[in-house]
Formats: sequence, C-alpha cells, structure tokens
Amino acid sequence: MSEKKIIAVLGATGAQGGGLVRAILNDPNSEFTVRAITRNIGTEKSKALAALGAEVVAADVDDVESLKKAFKDAYGVYAVTFFWSHFSPEKEIAEVNNIAQAAKAAGVKHAIWSTLEDTRKWIPLNDNRMPTLMEKYKVPHFDGKGESNHFFTDNGVPTTFLLTSFYWDNLIYFGMGPKKGTDGNLSYTMPMGDKKLPGIAAEDIGKCAYGIFKRGSDYIGKTVAIAGEHPTGSQMANTLSKVLGKEIQYNSVPFEVYRSFGFPGAEDLGNMFQFKHDFENYFCGVRKLDESKKLNPELQTFEMWATKNKELIPLE
Ligand SMILES: NC(=O)c1ccc[n+]([C@@H]2O[C@H](COP(=O)([O-])OP(=O)(O)OC[C@H]3O[C@@H](n4cnc5c(N)ncnc54)[C@H](OP(=O)(O)O)[C@@H]3O)[C@@H](O)[C@H]2O)c1
Repeated sequence: MSEKKIIAVLGATGAQGGGLVRAILNDPNSEFTVRAITRNIGTEKSKALAALGAEVVAADVDDVESLKKAFKDAYGVYAVTFFWSHFSPEKEIAEVNNIAQAAKAAGVKHAIWSTLEDTRKWIPLNDNRMPTLMEKYKVPHFDGKGESNHFFTDNGVPTTFLLTSFYWDNLIYFGMGPKKGTDGNLSYTMPMGDKKLPGIAAEDIGKCAYGIFKRGSDYIGKTVAIAGEHPTGSQMANTLSKVLGKEIQYNSVPFEVYRSFGFPGAEDLGNMFQFKHDFENYFCGVRKLDESKKLNPELQTFEMWATKNKELIPLE
C-alpha cells in the first residue's frame, strides 16, 4: 500500500476530480493511491471519499501554501479550477498560478491540467461576431484557462494539458435539460444549429485522466482532447425522446437570443456555443473519440449516458 504512488486530486468531491478518485480506488490493482483535496474534510462528501479509501486533506486553490502541503510527496496532481463558483477569469488565472507553483515546489512528476481553449486565438477581441465580455475575453471560462497553460510550462512542471468537453450532466445539474414551452411541448434548447457538440459524461473525464496517469510519461508535454461522442442538437433531442419515452424537440435559438437569457453566465455560454459552432471542424477534430476510448475503454456515448441517468434528468 505504502509503495503506491500518490495522486493528489483537486475538486475531489466534485465531477471531474470525483471521477478520477473513483476510477483509481475502484481498481484494486492500481499502482496509485488517492489524496483527495477538499476545503472541508468534515463534510459528508469528504467522509464518503475517506470511506472509499482515499486520504482526505484540506486545501484551497486560493491559498498556495495549503496546496504545497497537499501536494507534498505526491507523484501526480489532477488540477482543475472552479470558474462557476466565482465567475472571475482573473481569479481563475491566479488559482492556476497557485497550483502550478505548488506543483513545482512539491516536485510533482506528472500534473494533468484540465484546461480549455483560449478562444481569442480564433476570435480576436476586435472580431465583432460575438461581444467582448469583461473587457478582455470572448469566452471567459475558456479563455482564462487557456491563458493559464503557461504557468505549468514556465514552472517546468511535467504536465498533460487535458481539453475537456461539455458535460451531458449539465442536463441534470446546470439547468440545461429539456423544458416545457407555453404549448406544453418539451424542447431542448441550444444555439448550435445543425453543428455537432462534443460532449462527455463528467465521470468519464476522470476515467480518461486515470488512463493518462497510467501511461506514465507518454502524455507529458502533450495536449489531449477528449469527448464521448459528437452529437448534433437534433440527435441529442432524438436520443432523449427515445430514452425518456417522451417527444422532445430540438429548439435551436440564435446566439444573441441565448446570450440574452439573463441567467448568470448566459453571455459567456452563448459565446461558448458560438465558438463551438463557428469552429466545428477544429473543435470536433481535436476531440478524438478513438483516443478518448483508448484512455477509457468504458467511455459512454450520449445514449449510454442518458439511459443510465434518465431518472435524474428533470423534465419541467
Ligand atoms: N460543466 C461543463 O460542461 C464543463 C465542461 C468542461 C469544463 N468545465 C469546467 O469544470 C470546472 C469545474 O469542475 P467540476 O465540474 O469538476 O467542479 P464541481 O463538480 O463543481 O466540483 C467542484 C469541487 O471543487 C471544490 N472546490 C470549489 N472551490 C474550491 C477552492 N477554492 N479550493 C479547493 N477546492 C474547491 C469543491 O469541493 P469542496 O466543497 O469539498 O471543497 C467542489 O466539490 C469549471 O472550471 C468548468 O469551467 C465544465
């Protein structure tokens, strides 16, 4: 047991980190053991991780000294930040800097940084097809992550840059599920037109990350992009209709309409969908399904995910 290499996992009580924790601890032959990082070791979620066999420690991505302690003697670090808990790219950038500095100080052998594209490389701020947000960003929750990649390279941390995809779990937990219109019909709203949206079961991100750690140095210094499938909006609506046994229409709205929905982050998400729509070839092209499946043989398709989670998808 003590010979196992420690993987320190940020966001261990959440979607991505939790998936990695379970992937490692459910593998009795794993060469790794888990150090689950939480801000509060006393919560039910933290206790559940301890019961699974994880070492549970407290740290906060806003406190670099706490991260240095949490990463001490770790072989690997799974690095993820939490944009939607504060909506600030500047805060997210500072947090990635903290993580990279702490990984360097601890002499970590392999970090996986859960990043996303800096969309300004495709759509410069002076490109008016979509509004500039917060003065410096097109898609704030993407751009801050992409802009932060250099902290790992600058600090010489052996890193894999993991480009993730839209979680299908957003249909359950992020208010993105089918909704009843004034006519009483259910529809699934997304401003993607007829373009494909790479998606993934959140749990599979952690399983892919485990696949990367298992391959030792193969993926160090590399960027890997993962997805479970690239369905269009109408394919997703058809699958939901089939799995839920209810007619669900695909309601593709214009980007401006989506941006104007008024919920927190609506403009950011409207721009995100537009980026994925306008650069479909790039965005789908890098998110290779065969490579994702190689990392995680249990990789789910949208239909597999929907079938497994159909009781949890709220139908308003
Ligand atoms: N939703 C999507 O489709 C999607 C797709 C790609 C990427 N992402 C990105 O995924 C990231 C979030 O990851 P996730 O979905 O795995 O998160 P999550 O499920 O919301 O979990 C976040 C966990 O992180 C911990 N946490 C929050 N603030 C922290 C802090 N200051 N220091 C240390 N730990 C903290 C919390 O644990 P404790 O309360 O136990 O501390 C929480 O359980 C976001 O940045 C988002 O942009 C999302």
